[in-house]
Amino acid sequence: MKKICIGSIGLGRLGYEHAKNIATRIPGAELTALCDVDSVRLAQVAQELGVKNTYEDYEEMCKNPELDGICIVSPSSFHTEHIRIALENGKHVFCEKPLDTTVEKCKQGEAIVSAHPDKVFMLGFMRRYDHSYIKAKEKIDNGDIGRIILIRAYTQDPVATIESTLKFAPNSGGQFLDMCVHDIDLCNWFTGGQKPKNLWAIGGCFAYPQYREWNDGDNVGCMIQYEDETMAFLFAGRAAAQGCNVETEIIGTKGTLRIGSVGTDSMLEVLSENGVCRECYTDFMYRWHEAYISELEEFVNCIIENRQPDVTVYDGTLASQTAYRAKESFETGKMLPFEK
Ligand code: NAI
Repeated sequence: MKKICIGSIGLGRLGYEHAKNIATRIPGAELTALCDVDSVRLAQVAQELGVKNTYEDYEEMCKNPELDGICIVSPSSFHTEHIRIALENGKHVFCEKPLDTTVEKCKQGEAIVSAHPDKVFMLGFMRRYDHSYIKAKEKIDNGDIGRIILIRAYTQDPVATIESTLKFAPNSGGQFLDMCVHDIDLCNWFTGGQKPKNLWAIGGCFAYPQYREWNDGDNVGCMIQYEDETMAFLFAGRAAAQGCNVETEIIGTKGTLRIGSVGTDSMLEVLSENGVCRECYTDFMYRWHEAYISELEEFVNCIIENRQPDVTVYDGTLASQTAYRAKESFETGKMLPFEK
């Protein structure tokens, strides 16, 4: 069977991971082209992964008739524009989260995607493709924990990667859009698409005062009340001492589900003068490695089977809109209704 030919844009922290996965881990796909404005990085990755077509101009790559799909891993503020160019050139699109960095651009993204219903569009909410989260979702849908009362979610990046985190921070859209957006999407997924009713976000600069310059905190939290009264508490931090820590707890009327309550990278225990230790995931790449592969497998299978994935462009807008409202609450110090 002919392989699905993919061109990938952005060869930074995650872009390189996706490119490598497409080239080596997705049986139905071929990494046919690469694009990045950094010509040195582009040549280096193309050589390593054996990719013959390289572009510094994204539109040129999208015009390549060999390509079936585009994988967008460019900076978040380019996403809508890059989605538009790919779809208008007849390509299927996988785009990293967030959908974009303003609600207005997300809405434009929705319109562009809806105008191309024959093309697969998928957003990179990879937690939906992680084995533990898939099992949790099945149990919720099966009624095993009854009605959801509270979702508690922690997402912490490791202090070990703080240098690259700080470099990325000013253009990331901020903590709520860049980090909490994953937990916000999980709440949306687990509750079957409930919309927030009220939000209250707080936070501060506990170790890295530079976040204040970006109207942000290095550690932030947000409480959400959903329209059906489900509660959520989200916490995002940039510099956890122990490593990459992601915990999710879903408390229902008949039971509770927990994922990563002690976030360790394996079953290994090290017994030494420090006691009994289990090591944490070193970074997000390590924690989500399999999920990143599974989501791209799903993208390629959607193209082959001519169907759309469960995660939609509307999920992307809802997550960004919720994150922005949380940011506004953080900035004003007020509890806000979700709808303006
Ligand atoms: P990065 O800053 O490390 O890399 C961005 C790359 O895009 C750089 O190589 C840069 O040269 C290139 N680039 C910038 N403008 C370009 C243009 N106009 N044309 C072509 N190339 C261009 O960023 P990172 O961390 O890889 O993030 C990229 C996207 O992935 C962001 O949207 C981010 O939110 C998302 N992301 C998602 C994660 C997840 O867990 N799902 C984790 C990390 C990032």
